[in-house]
Amino acid sequence: MYARVIGTGSYLPGKPVSNDDLAARGIDTNDEWIVTRTGIRSRHLAEAGTTSSELGLIAAQRALEMAGVAAADLDLIVVATSTPDFIFPSTACIIQGKLGNKGAAAFDVQAVCAGFTYALGIAEKFIVSGSHKKALVIGAEVFSRILDWNDRGTCVLFGDGAGAVVLEASETPGIMATAMHADGSQFGILNVPGQVCSGQVTGDPFLRMDGQAVFKFAVRVLADIAEEVCAKAGISTADLDWLIPHQANIRIIEATGKKLGVPREKVIVSVDRHGNTSAASVPLALDEAVRDGRIQRGQKVLVEGVGGGFTWGAALLEF
Ligand code: UT7
Repeated sequence: MYARVIGTGSYLPGKPVSNDDLAARGIDTNDEWIVTRTGIRSRHLAEAGTTSSELGLIAAQRALEMAGVAAADLDLIVVATSTPDFIFPSTACIIQGKLGNKGAAAFDVQAVCAGFTYALGIAEKFIVSGSHKKALVIGAEVFSRILDWNDRGTCVLFGDGAGAVVLEASETPGIMATAMHADGSQFGILNVPGQVCSGQVTGDPFLRMDGQAVFKFAVRVLADIAEEVCAKAGISTADLDWLIPHQANIRIIEATGKKLGVPREKVIVSVDRHGNTSAASVPLALDEAVRDGRIQRGQKVLVEGVGGGFTWGAALLEF
């Protein structure tokens, strides 16, 4: 038994916000710096008050429509997010309520930018065990809420959005292999070190990052985990039709592709137009490439993410 992707969907709020738009808003930056260092040209930023569940709901509805599955028939809903609507209930339960599903297991996964790959791997295990038959896996973020707009080293890098897939139990492959790892000793290089306590925000509620440390860590683990899942599935990285790495920085994406020997034309890139949407980045890029016809049934697609924790995860799909 395999878990097979039978539908994908995504959603980006509002109009693209260019690098020049950010500079015009008073951020001490410029298009040349951002494009050269990151490859990012624009991102989408949700209007004040818009939540992850609102973005995730639309992505989910689009994935369900492509799959031809009614929300009532889902028995598992997993949402990867680091910007949940509330402390509780989970964003998964909020989306479940909005979809009108009753009875599915619903919970959030917190693995930051590796979140979608973790959620996909978890849902796959539920399905392969035989306990669940139809799963909705969502990555949804409003990262703009946790950015310090006075910190030009981080605020230009991120965007808001959501992506989703519907998985079904199937005798046809299917997810062929998954992997998930973490190294909590690295929590200091990327975090939001604040919390709510006794009605007050304590600590620092904004994203903080040591960019160069994150860069080096990301390239190493993205290459390692891609090799690991390919080995588990008994293929080589040369057999991949598509590589979808976490969309944080074009230089990280290119360095990963180079280390793996995957040519540029097999690497799916959306960071130029989406920025880093954390847990939404991989399913957004996947949905774009499915809908524009690049990804075809039967092809081998490797998705991988890396983020705060540190966490990293990957899945090899035979699409
Ligand atoms: O999901 C994981 C999320 N995070 C990442 O993937 C980030 C990984 N890291 C990176 O992508 C890169 O480290 C950055 C893009 C964040 C930064 O690039 P860098 O080449 O490591 O630059 P830097 O931090 O060393 O900064 C170089 C210069 C500094 O100026 P000085 O001190 O050399 O005068 C910064 O103040 O660039 C300056 N700078 C900027 N200039 C214009 C930093 N941010 C900006 C900005 N616009 N937005």
